Amino acid sequence: MNRRHLGQGLDVSALGLGCMGMSEFYGDHDDAESLRVLNRAADLGITFLDTADMYGPHHNERLLGTFLKQRGRAGFEVATKCGIVRTDDPMARSLNSRPDYIRAACDASLQRLGIERIDLYYLHRYDGETPIEDVMGAFADLKAAGKIAHVGLSEVKAETLRAAHAVHPVTALQTEYSLWTRDVEAEVLPACRALGIGFVPYSPLGRGYLTGAFTADTALSADDFRAHLPRFQGAARDRNQAIVDVVRAIADEAGATPAQVAIAWVLSRGEHIVPIPGTKRVRYLEDNVAALTVSLSGDMMRTLDALMETHPVAGARYTPVGMATVDG
Ligand SMILES: NC(=O)c1ccc[n+]([C@@H]2O[C@H](COP(=O)([O-])OP(=O)(O)OC[C@H]3O[C@@H](n4cnc5c(N)ncnc54)[C@H](OP(=O)(O)O)[C@@H]3O)[C@@H](O)[C@H]2O)c1
Repeated sequence: MNRRHLGQGLDVSALGLGCMGMSEFYGDHDDAESLRVLNRAADLGITFLDTADMYGPHHNERLLGTFLKQRGRAGFEVATKCGIVRTDDPMARSLNSRPDYIRAACDASLQRLGIERIDLYYLHRYDGETPIEDVMGAFADLKAAGKIAHVGLSEVKAETLRAAHAVHPVTALQTEYSLWTRDVEAEVLPACRALGIGFVPYSPLGRGYLTGAFTADTALSADDFRAHLPRFQGAARDRNQAIVDVVRAIADEAGATPAQVAIAWVLSRGEHIVPIPGTKRVRYLEDNVAALTVSLSGDMMRTLDALMETHPVAGARYTPVGMATVDG
């Protein structure tokens, strides 16, 4: 698989693997199948693995730790995140960007992953209260101690990114970006490009919606995170089928699947962009990796670029509570 350059000298596989769904959020999971997915991903050349301490919580890092122990740690770029605090209530979240918290979270992640150094350590959400100088100071200390190799941020606005980068170089920004979530195009992507910071789009498949897997009849269990998201509900979900219809028509013409079109489009947005589609199934993984060889014509690209003008998305990407955690 081709490699792409994020920032600060970190090269990763052109496609990463989002591991979140192997633990929570998108219905049932099966560790044995998840380990098969991780091994198949490695066989196909994926080395960039994405997790976070809050996925599970903790189950996802432990699963990755099991995989790395079995497969061998060398050759992988392991990315994890801290800063979202969970409680026993699965929907409750609070944010903590304080240096003492970041330091303790890093030690706990290293232990669960069973590795000595995290290749890319992100602040999952910025709490907006801790001075960004203190946040980046904590990351710089972790780097100096050899516990992390690179610093990342997630879901911060361009102004915060610039301020952080002025304190310590940021390697990557991870934020939602896909055919139906374009918020970053106005300011964040240009800032990344100008500062030499890599961009890691999460949920590039629109949490599965853009693959065409959702119809008016799809029932989501109450513990499926998407059941709570406005764009997956009622009239909004039905209206958003028009977006999938366009993606599917292009996929048919290109001899590809809608998932491949969604990934190929994100990949086309810049050489510093490395999407991390998530799956817990080998067949989806193989489908997604094949997106790297899908070729979209100029007309197809223009149709996809204009998709949010011709078919605006209905419904917000998070609940109001979720949106409140996003730096904006
Ligand atoms: N920084 C953040 O705040 C943040 C937030 C969300 C996610 N993330 C990271 O980003 C990664 C990717 O995002 P995501 O998992 O939320 O969303 P996604 O990649 O847009 O979509 C994942 C969903 O699509 C399904 N899927 C995957 N490939 C498919 C295919 N070829 N055909 C049909 N369906 C397919 C998966 O099904 P199965 O589950 O059945 O395999 C899953 O339900 C996560 O795993 C996580 O590591 C980060």
